[in-house]
Amino acid sequence: MDYLNCRYFSVPFLFLLLCFPSSATGDLRSDKQLLLAFVDAVYHPPKLNWNSNTSLCSSWIGVTCTADQTRVLALRLPGVGLSGLIPANTLGKLDALQVLSLRSNRLSGNLPSDIISLPSLQNLYLQHNNLSGDIPASLSLGLTSLDLSYNSFTGEIPLGIQNLSQLSLLNLQNNSLSGPIPDLKVLRLKHLNISYNHLNGSIPFSLQKFPNDSFLGNPQLCGPPLPQCSAVLPSPSPFSPSLSPPPAPHQNHKKSSRKNTSAGFIIAIVVGGLALLLLLLMVLFICILRRKDEEGSGGSKEKGSTVEKPKEEYSSGVQMAEKNKLVFLEGCAYNFDLEDLLRASAEVLGKGSYGTAYKAVLEDGTTVVVKRLKEVVVGKREFEQQMEIIGRVGQHPKLVPLRAYYYSKDEKLLVYDYVPTGSFSTLLHGNGGGERTPLDWDSRVRVILGTAHGVAHIHSEGGPKFVHGNIKSSNILLSQDLNPFVSDYGLSPLMNPPATLSQVVVGYRAPETVETRKVTQKSDVYSFGVLLLEMLTGKAPLQSQGHDDVADLPRWVQSVVREEWTAEVFDVELMRYQNIEEELVRMLHIAMSCVARTPEQRPRMEDVIRMIEEIRKSGSESRPSLPGDSNVRTL
Ligand SMILES: *[C@@H]1O[C@H](CO)[C@@H](O)[C@H](O)[C@H]1NC(C)=O
Ligand SMILES: *[C@@H]1O[C@H](CO)[C@@H](O)[C@H](O)[C@H]1NC(C)=O
Ligand SMILES: *[C@@H]1O[C@H](CO)[C@@H](O)[C@H](O)[C@H]1NC(C)=O
Ligand SMILES: *[C@@H]1O[C@H](CO)[C@@H](O)[C@H](O)[C@H]1NC(C)=O
Ligand SMILES: *[C@@H]1O[C@H](CO)[C@@H](O)[C@H](O)[C@H]1NC(C)=O
Ligand SMILES: *[C@@H]1O[C@H](CO)[C@@H](O)[C@H](O)[C@H]1NC(C)=O
Ligand SMILES: *[C@@H]1O[C@H](CO)[C@@H](O)[C@H](O)[C@H]1NC(C)=O
Repeated sequence: MDYLNCRYFSVPFLFLLLCFPSSATGDLRSDKQLLLAFVDAVYHPPKLNWNSNTSLCSSWIGVTCTADQTRVLALRLPGVGLSGLIPANTLGKLDALQVLSLRSNRLSGNLPSDIISLPSLQNLYLQHNNLSGDIPASLSLGLTSLDLSYNSFTGEIPLGIQNLSQLSLLNLQNNSLSGPIPDLKVLRLKHLNISYNHLNGSIPFSLQKFPNDSFLGNPQLCGPPLPQCSAVLPSPSPFSPSLSPPPAPHQNHKKSSRKNTSAGFIIAIVVGGLALLLLLLMVLFICILRRKDEEGSGGSKEKGSTVEKPKEEYSSGVQMAEKNKLVFLEGCAYNFDLEDLLRASAEVLGKGSYGTAYKAVLEDGTTVVVKRLKEVVVGKREFEQQMEIIGRVGQHPKLVPLRAYYYSKDEKLLVYDYVPTGSFSTLLHGNGGGERTPLDWDSRVRVILGTAHGVAHIHSEGGPKFVHGNIKSSNILLSQDLNPFVSDYGLSPLMNPPATLSQVVVGYRAPETVETRKVTQKSDVYSFGVLLLEMLTGKAPLQSQGHDDVADLPRWVQSVVREEWTAEVFDVELMRYQNIEEELVRMLHIAMSCVARTPEQRPRMEDVIRMIEEIRKSGSESRPSLPGDSNVRTL
């Protein structure tokens, strides 16, 4: 009876193996079975809408499929309340999986070794759980981010990490790892944190370039960047190539027992192989029949149910998922979700007229700027349309591109690239305290001309109604080599004009907008003119003249020029340069035409570019060599 049962059982099992193969030839159906097996084995909240009857790719929370919808590419379930042990032979069999994020749950027990060795796995985020035991020794060679921090892992850091040539982030902080740090000669490693473990020995040379807060809280660790090792300590061993990975006792045992049984094993394989061949033909035949059958009835049933049911059945889950989606704009290569963004470490960059800007560093080390808009007055549709235009217009080398946005009733977020160096404003005026390096003439012209190109592109690409709306020196960001990137454009139609404007904004505002409260391309030209005056004079756009008398820059310049003290207008720092007076004066004329009182008299941005380029041409001909600025000649 038992024997029969066993035989009876062995067919469907094989059948499963062959019909839903677990390796190279996996497909979406097997991925679905594996995910269901995973979720059945861990405790999970009811809101997880994984249902075998619905489409995995379009409705399951946290699942992302390949573009052709044939495999599961990413699984992200951060902070959804999973707890219990991660079963082996489930997630670890999703062999097309590239991203796995189960961080901030309450998962415990060992990390199954099949997960961390999944051949296509690139990003593994398991931080903030309570996983324990050793970190499995065999790691997927394609890993770029490995975050196992804030768990209870013990044992040594596996030597296999040395072989991860793509690794750029390694976070192991707040575990109980012990032993030496392996000599990681991983060139791409940008972010390392192994703080708060029980590691010992000296820090290998290859890792000494990391700051000391990558290694905190390991009292027995020493050497740069931490304090020197005392002479008594033996030199650390992990460098010697002959040392094999720390042999775990059970591995040894496995090896010897494998030897004993190997002969029996071979016989079994030979006999079994013959039987298998016979079975194989039979089973394949059944498989084909079964698949045909499914396509005929089961397949169409599945389709039907996903078309009709979702509205009511998944309203809680899917719509929540939809609602919380970060919308990425075309051409964006970022790979993170809203949860990632909200968990990123953030630092306030500044408060502007439209809201607060933060610098956010994500768990994989990506740095972006998140702008949190306040007082958005338009509805979702209009907001989305404007975002599409901003995204399209932003594809220009002089503009800071908008990468993604998020819209909900309570929160509107914009995600931009991060430009590290600073703004034109801080370079012209310093940031309040301390030294600033004076900006030379060629750099200033380069910034102005690049800005003009950026604004002109905004005007030509976005349509006649599309404007920058907020040109000011703090919105001109500069890269290391002083290339300008214009930011904060296209947002004015989304907002109520603020009731009280800051002094800074007032200084750039075209006179007609005070009454109409409407920005136009011509009012952008005015603001650009003020920016140009700011560059030439080195003065802020609003000038306090004492006795509560505040003059804006255009009026101040006009009054000075009228008195024929033109030379007094310019930034004293520019007076150090020889033979640029004519350029200065001609540039001043362009600026004054931009700040003409009537909008019709102002030039278009295209004309401004042409005029500046003419000045440059004749300028560089008349002064062939200038000390110290040859590097910024090419515009
Ligand atoms: C899937 O559909 C079948 C029949 O339509 C139904 O009996 C079953 O309960 C459904 N399963 C789930 C998990 O909803
Ligand atoms: C984590 O797991 C360990 C056992 O591995 C247990 O002793 C500890 O209480 C757990 N911690 C938490 C916070 O659940
Ligand atoms: C690293 O890779 C080499 C060759 O690919 C292999 O011989 C070695 O065992 C690997 N090291 C570890 C620690 O896995
Ligand atoms: C990480 O470990 C340090 C030292 O034990 C502790 O101060 C810190 O609170 C830990 N962080 C978390 C999030 O557990
Ligand atoms: C590090 O700790 C292990 C025990 O965890 C010990 O065997 C080894 O000798 C220590 N090495 C150094 C350099 O202190
Ligand atoms: C880390 O380095 C900073 C300076 O770079 C120093 O002020 C600090 O004391 C160092 N901390 C430790 C724990 O060595
Ligand atoms: C590493 O993690 C600790 C917290 O456990 C933190 O204090 C430290 O700043 C982190 N270091 C780096 C380089 O991120």
